[in-house]
Amino acid sequence: MTKSAGSIRFILNDRDIALTSVSPTGTLLDFLRLERRLTGTKEGCAEGDCGACTVLVGRLAGDDLVYESVNACIRFTGSLNATHVVTVEHLAAKDGALHPVQQAMVDYHGSQCGFCTPGIVMSLYGLWLSKDNPGRAEIEKTLQGNLCRCTGYEPIVKAAEAVGTIRPDSVFDPLMKARQDITARLKAIRSNETISIGDEAARLIVPGSAAALADVLDSYPQATVVAGCTDVGLWITKQMRAINPVIFINGIEELQSIEETQEGIVIGAGVTYSAAFDLISACYPAFGRLLDRLGGEQVRNMGTIGGNVANGSPIGDSPPPLIALGASVTLRSKGGRRTIPLEDYFIEYGRQDRRPGEFVESVFVPSLPDGELFSVYKVSKRRDEDISALCGAFRIGLDGGNRVQSARIAFGGMAGTPKRATQVEAALIGQPWNEETIKTAQAAFEQDYQPLTDWRATATYRMLAAKNLLMRFFLETAGERAELVRFEETA
Ligand SMILES: Cc1cc2nc3c(=O)[nH]c(=O)nc-3n(C[C@H](O)[C@H](O)[C@H](O)COP(=O)(O)OP(=O)(O)OC[C@H]3O[C@@H](n4cnc5c(N)ncnc54)[C@H](O)[C@@H]3O)c2cc1C
Ligand code: FES
Ligand code: FES
Repeated sequence: MTKSAGSIRFILNDRDIALTSVSPTGTLLDFLRLERRLTGTKEGCAEGDCGACTVLVGRLAGDDLVYESVNACIRFTGSLNATHVVTVEHLAAKDGALHPVQQAMVDYHGSQCGFCTPGIVMSLYGLWLSKDNPGRAEIEKTLQGNLCRCTGYEPIVKAAEAVGTIRPDSVFDPLMKARQDITARLKAIRSNETISIGDEAARLIVPGSAAALADVLDSYPQATVVAGCTDVGLWITKQMRAINPVIFINGIEELQSIEETQEGIVIGAGVTYSAAFDLISACYPAFGRLLDRLGGEQVRNMGTIGGNVANGSPIGDSPPPLIALGASVTLRSKGGRRTIPLEDYFIEYGRQDRRPGEFVESVFVPSLPDGELFSVYKVSKRRDEDISALCGAFRIGLDGGNRVQSARIAFGGMAGTPKRATQVEAALIGQPWNEETIKTAQAAFEQDYQPLTDWRATATYRMLAAKNLLMRFFLETAGERAELVRFEETA
């Protein structure tokens, strides 16, 4: 695996691109602006927060062509093989007539300084392509990852509502018109061959399969695996870290399956939050609601649960619910596979149980038995697109006499790793599920956690909030309120 082989091939608007020389950490935004002079895509924050750099990336899902909004500022060019990149320049007709989404932004006064506008247009365009008449909640969800500091969102939402009544097949739309052609061109590019570009000083590798990934990691155990780039992107744009070689796994189909079995659900390491949303929401509604608050739409379209787990951050949002649900993680290497409880994967801050040559292949989440109570709460300064100060997940089983039979409670933001509250669990088990038990168990948080003070929250705040979340979980799952919660979750 020392010689270069292949090229990164994709379609940019209507042009075929084949790159034989690519920096492993070069961003799509720099490629567009600096190399292609497509300057409609803006740079605001360079960390995936503001959405000024939003473009659409189309990819084949089986035989289907799916377009999703992404942040070009943290997406590496090397991750684009066999995709269709669509920038704002592609929307207007050749005679300059604006696309209906752009025209609606004009008609409803959705732009003032205009810096955020191309990104907002691209996010709304992605929504317009995929949903008839979206409601206000869907529009707001689409715009979670687009910041506008002068217009205010009301005119933008009105523009989205208005254009939602016009369907793509009733007007000129460049992607509808070229759909079959683009699908055929992407199928022609798609291949299971491993791509390797560069030399020992700066190499990028795109393995063609999970087995090829295992081989590559065997040769380069120090390599950085990149799935959605939503953590790694910031290592480059903000921390200027040097990483080499870089292995892009977002195109490996075998890692992208999510399936329900009799025992639970198996989530491939390459499954994005957006792709996992429907099944997770159906099986564990509170977990689905949490995903709605993770990043913005662009981050959810790129970021993976595998990456969230592998990254090992103490404030990653998916580990607490996964641990409370009893999830396990499967690690694979050239030598085989091993499966461990997810809670054992997190050893200490910055250290996980991933051996050289191993990668995360999948996460298994057991089904929630009938009657077990489960919820998860994220506490952050902003509702949308904010990292948790703390995140707590609770799962309780009650016996026929309303006594706690089983308890699994896990928190992020309370220790150097996502961690179970074993003392709180012990204080609950065998006790009646009532307010007195909760008040006694609240004290046990002091034994389980010694949280830190940082810019997100003080240690005192975190401790108090954790105790209060246990009470909230009780109040939401006891008596009449419990019926209401169950009704909401199945309605
Ligand atoms: C604007 C913004 C908002 C965010 N908001 C949130 C939030 O609200 N909550 C939250 O939890 N996170 C948030 N994040 C962080 C990030 O989106 C998540 O951690 C995401 O799940 C990372 O997944 P990824 O696929 O992008 O990982 P990558 O960035 O590709 O990789 C992350 C780490 O995991 C490793 N890795 C990835 N896949 C594998 C694999 N299969 N095997 C071995 N190692 C692997 C990489 O080497 C790297 O160390 C946010 C990020 C941004 C930019
Ligand atoms: S520049 Fe702000 S999200 Fe990309
Ligand atoms: S129009 Fe100025 S930031 Fe949105």
